[in-house]
Amino acid sequence: MWIPKLEHYSGPRYMAIADAIADAIKQGDLNHGDRLPTHRALADTLKVTVGTITRAYAEAERRSLVNARVGRGTFIATQHAQGHRFKITGESEPDSVDLRLNLPIAKDRAKELSQTMAQLATEPEQMNRLLGYQPDVGMLSHREAAVEWLKLTGLNTSADNLIITGGGQNAIMLSLLALTRPGDSILSEAITYPGFMAVTHQLNLRAQPVAMDEEGVIPEAFEDACKQFAPRVLYCTPSLQNPTNAIMSNSRREALVDVARRYHVWIIEDSVNSNLLTNAPAPLAEIAPDQVIYINSASKTLAAGLRVGWIVAPDEVRTQISNALRASNWMTSPLLAEICSRWITSGLAKRLLEEQKQELSHRNQLIEQYLGHYKSRINPHSLHAWLELPVQWRSSEFIQQADKQGVKVIGEDSFVVAQYRAPQAIRLSSSSAWSANHLERGLKILAELLQQEPEPSLSVF
Ligand SMILES: Cc1ncc(COP(=O)(O)O)c(C=O)c1O
Repeated sequence: MWIPKLEHYSGPRYMAIADAIADAIKQGDLNHGDRLPTHRALADTLKVTVGTITRAYAEAERRSLVNARVGRGTFIATQHAQGHRFKITGESEPDSVDLRLNLPIAKDRAKELSQTMAQLATEPEQMNRLLGYQPDVGMLSHREAAVEWLKLTGLNTSADNLIITGGGQNAIMLSLLALTRPGDSILSEAITYPGFMAVTHQLNLRAQPVAMDEEGVIPEAFEDACKQFAPRVLYCTPSLQNPTNAIMSNSRREALVDVARRYHVWIIEDSVNSNLLTNAPAPLAEIAPDQVIYINSASKTLAAGLRVGWIVAPDEVRTQISNALRASNWMTSPLLAEICSRWITSGLAKRLLEEQKQELSHRNQLIEQYLGHYKSRINPHSLHAWLELPVQWRSSEFIQQADKQGVKVIGEDSFVVAQYRAPQAIRLSSSSAWSANHLERGLKILAELLQQEPEPSLSVF
């Protein structure tokens, strides 16, 4: 039985016990899944009341160090390899492996943030500037920092072309607000990011699927859809497409732009994942800056909570987009954009990105090891993998069975536009597992399940 040595700790006893649990985890004396002594046993050993232990375990749970399970006891929670994962409301229990969300790898960045804020605290003039109204498109220094950052994705632009937004999702909304009217048909990859569909729904747009292959949108299908629907806009993700991981070759990009020019269709290029790629092909916005509205954000590489994103748009539509921004939000918070800019200019952003890439490459190797022999799209740099299920499985059944065994994934249904017929498939976001070990636990379960037959359903007769 683990017994804390409280003589090393000052302050109230319940706090001392919680501190001792934290230290024991750090030192490896307590590990994920270890069961803590019962309240009664520890109270007797430490000669404190049961109430003190109850408060201590509650404090440890508040710090995400342990999980209490009714009737079973208190267990050490899964710790993230690079720091504690922070509890978010609605998050599934740590015991289950939740691979449903495309998140940046959870990482303790509190120190970085506090250093940035401490530095800012020594600059009263700048603080006052950040607390005031600023140009709707964002402060020049913030736009200049973004221009530097986006060079990593192969985009060369100037601060005049750039608008700071409240993240990638906001950037999609602003672009569509500016470019479309209710009732318009809008094209996208047939299997696409659900956040895009949420916007089309809100704006009463008619999303039309364009057929894809392993490189994403097929130019001939795009052309056919242009003839059929006379759309104003195509939305697509040419690099590390969500969910299929498709990456368009240079020639595919040229072909797509050619169709867009001939049919006068704006392309919204969602590039939020492209920073993760090394040597990504040139963005569409680099090939055709006059035809493409380019979107990127800090969410997948630095921190989603910063809520900073960027739009690079041609002259012809930039004013419409900044009008939409002003009408909806006046401007993106300069304070958040300042933090993001400081991270970029100090080199911290690059370091965070490199760390993210390294961890992702390790996690994607694990996916390759366990599931690589299935029809899958695994990329060492991606936040997610895409797996077409073997013939015996429908995705709805597979998801249900995996969930019963403690692994949560999502199926093609969540990504399909209109009634496009997609293969039965699942997306696994390795980035949303709490650690590489946690991911591996989930992968073993999935690999085993994939070899089995679904249970026959007798619920319909
Ligand atoms: C393809 C794609 N675009 C945009 C977004 C939204 O990004 P943000 O968090 O910056 O709003 C996401 C988030 O999952 C995404 O996967």
